[in-house]
Amino acid sequence: MKTLEWKDGKLVLIDQRKLPDSLEYFECRTYRDVIYAIKEMVVRGAPAIGVSAAFGVALAHLAGEDTARAADEIKASRPTAVNLFWAVDRAMNSESPLEEALRMYREDVETNMAIGRHGAGVIDDGDTILTHCNAGALACVDYGTALGVVRAARDQGKNITVICDETRPVGQGARLSVWEMQQEGIPVRLIADVAAGYLMQTGRIDKVIIGADRVATGGVANKIGSLMVALAAKRFEVPFYVAAPLSTFDRENSIYDVEIEERDPSEVLYYGGCRIAPQGTRAINPAFDIVPSDLITGIITENGIIDPL
Ligand code: MRU
Repeated sequence: MKTLEWKDGKLVLIDQRKLPDSLEYFECRTYRDVIYAIKEMVVRGAPAIGVSAAFGVALAHLAGEDTARAADEIKASRPTAVNLFWAVDRAMNSESPLEEALRMYREDVETNMAIGRHGAGVIDDGDTILTHCNAGALACVDYGTALGVVRAARDQGKNITVICDETRPVGQGARLSVWEMQQEGIPVRLIADVAAGYLMQTGRIDKVIIGADRVATGGVANKIGSLMVALAAKRFEVPFYVAAPLSTFDRENSIYDVEIEERDPSEVLYYGGCRIAPQGTRAINPAFDIVPSDLITGIITENGIIDPL
C-alpha cells in the first residue's frame, strides 16, 4: 500500500497519526474529508499533501460540487507547503481533475526516483546520514525525497546508516522515518533533536539530507528544527543537502514572505498523550523554520543538484 491511493472512487490514506503502533487507513469520500486529513496530519509531507489535495478537487468535481469553492477551502488547509497550491491549481486548470490527480500521482514516484538517482551521487559507501522530520515515502506517494536518496544509494550497494532526529513536537522522525527505514532494512538510529549538534561536533555525521516544504529566494522552509541542524552542520563542515521536487519551488516569493504555520500549542504541551508541562503553561508552536541559502550545500531535484535560490 502506498501513502495514498485512489480506490473505488475514494482517496485512501495511510493514517499517519497511528504509526508506528498500527497501520490503519483513512478513507476520504468527500473533499471535506481531504481537508480534515490534511489539517489533522492524517496525511502530511509536502508532495503527499499536494497529490491528496488534487484528489480533493477531483472528489468535489465528481460530486458536482462548486469546485472553485472547494479549491479555496482545500488551499486554506495548511499554509506552508507550496505543493498544495501548485497541485490544486493544476487540478483546477485541467479538463478532468481526476485524470490530472492520477497523473500527479504517477509523476510523484518518477520524480522521487530521479531525485534519488541524482542524490545518490553525493553519498559515499559507509556514510552516516542525518535526516530531520520525514521526507520519505510517507511524505510522498512513494519512495521519498531525502529518504529516496538513501534508498537509491543503498540500491547502488552502498552501506548507509541513517540517523533520525526525533522531530519534536509531532515526532515525524521517531514515528515515521525510523519505521520506514526499518521496513526497508536500512540501519537506523534515533536521536533526541538536541543531540544532532554533538554528533556533528564529534564527527559522527557525514552528511545531512532533509526535505522541503518550500524553496524560494533566500532559502528553504522545512520542519521546525531544520535551521538548528543547518547551523550546526555549517559550523562543523558537514555537507547539508535539501532534496525537493521542482513542485516545491516557489519562484514568486522571498522565503521570508512565506507563511509559517503555527499549530495548536497542545502539540508542544503533550507528547504521546501525556502532559509534559505544568497546568496553565502557554506554548508557542511554529511548525516550520527557514534555512537560509548560505547554509545549504545543494538542492537535489529531479533535474540534478542545483544551488539554492
Ligand atoms: O508537518 P509535516 O509533517 O507535513 O512536515 C513535513 C516536512 O517538513 C517535510 O520535511 C517536507 O514536507 C518534505 S516531504 C518530502
